Amino acid sequence: MNILVVGSGAREHAIVHKLKQDGIKNIYCAPGNAGIDELATCVQINHDDVNGLINFAQEQHISLTIVGPEISLSLGIVDAFNENGLTIFGPTKQAAMIESSKFFARQIMRNYHIPQPGFEMFDNSNEAIDYVKTISYPAVIKADGLAAGKGVSIVNTREEAIDVVKAMMEQRVFGDAGKRILVEEFLNGVESSYFVISNGKGFVKLGSARDYKRLNDMDKGPNTGGMGSISPSDKITPALEKKVIDKIINPLMDAFKQESIVYKGVIYTGLMIVDNEPYVLEFNARFGDPETQAIIPRIISDLPGILVDSAKGKTFTETIKTKEEVSVCVVMASKNYPEHPETGKIINGLRDAVKKDTFIFHAGTKKEKGSIITTGGRVLAITGIGADYESARVKAYRSIGNIVFEGANYRKDIGL
Ligand code: AMP
Ligand code: GLY
Repeated sequence: MNILVVGSGAREHAIVHKLKQDGIKNIYCAPGNAGIDELATCVQINHDDVNGLINFAQEQHISLTIVGPEISLSLGIVDAFNENGLTIFGPTKQAAMIESSKFFARQIMRNYHIPQPGFEMFDNSNEAIDYVKTISYPAVIKADGLAAGKGVSIVNTREEAIDVVKAMMEQRVFGDAGKRILVEEFLNGVESSYFVISNGKGFVKLGSARDYKRLNDMDKGPNTGGMGSISPSDKITPALEKKVIDKIINPLMDAFKQESIVYKGVIYTGLMIVDNEPYVLEFNARFGDPETQAIIPRIISDLPGILVDSAKGKTFTETIKTKEEVSVCVVMASKNYPEHPETGKIINGLRDAVKKDTFIFHAGTKKEKGSIITTGGRVLAITGIGADYESARVKAYRSIGNIVFEGANYRKDIGL
């Protein structure tokens, strides 16, 4: 079986690593990174070059393509592959709108009674400004479209809210993503994520995780793509998981059926848990990053089989089995991430960092003149697995202790 993975992050490295473990011999990754290159053949085609990817998949007789980034999904990569008779894991452009349009997702949730914060949508900045003068604070303002994880602002005053509305809708700091905005009720609780894989008819549970979004320890500093993760989430007890399935996943599956949306792929539910009740902050249409780097090392089941069943809309033959052990994943980032990451730094110590129960996933790295150098904001994701969070944590940080690059920055409190 030849498999193509689209993307270049630590999420994609974790997927490639699992495919290798599951016995897949021919793995390609477009465009990949220095770590993925050790396990797969990296090809220099970007994740947004849909035609280039189709040509490659046809030439190499790829039997399954797995898509990492949301942008590829929102460009309609799945529709285009399907039109060419190629098997691809992920939702179509229309189905992926649960992520690419926050308003679309909120409307579905409203119509199908899925618990969520109160919200209003605006496509006119004057109306939005009038509205934010009437609400209580804090509140949350969100660009409707994809904004590389930056389109959400928590505002504490009316003045701040007006500035954010103007920046999004008038100055268009996120381009067309801010043509429409949502103003949401601020929910105060604890966050966690829950993942399932759908085949268009039913789903299998992938499990839960917690993402550490803020740059600095104790959840201080700006939001980032994610500075670490744990799986499962300590906040999602079996009773809460049942609520997530009953109140969110099942109604969403029903909504898809009623709306004639065939959703195949990962359903990533970003939750706020308030007084032991789950509310949906967002849906994503793909694997999370860095949640996947914590979830995948715990999976025992054959991942390619599950992804093929999803892509082909076949009945799942088994549930996803996971290890009893838990995982802790710590992201090492470049100096000045997320604003202006400094790149081009040589990474040392990677070989010494290889240890039992530890996984070193590469993100922004490439090989140059015999060295591995940094190329992006998030550079590495190191996952430890163990009987409890503390032992998993110790393993992840022990490996990190061996890795050196100039300006390396990571949180010290992941899994605490
Ligand atoms: P999102 O991309 O919609 O998940 O939002 C990014 C982050 O903003 C979330 O992880 C939360 O920390 C925060 N957030 C989003 N919506 C809300 C809300 N309605 N209430 C409180 N915090 C929120
Ligand atoms: N970890 C957040 C995301 O993947 O969107």
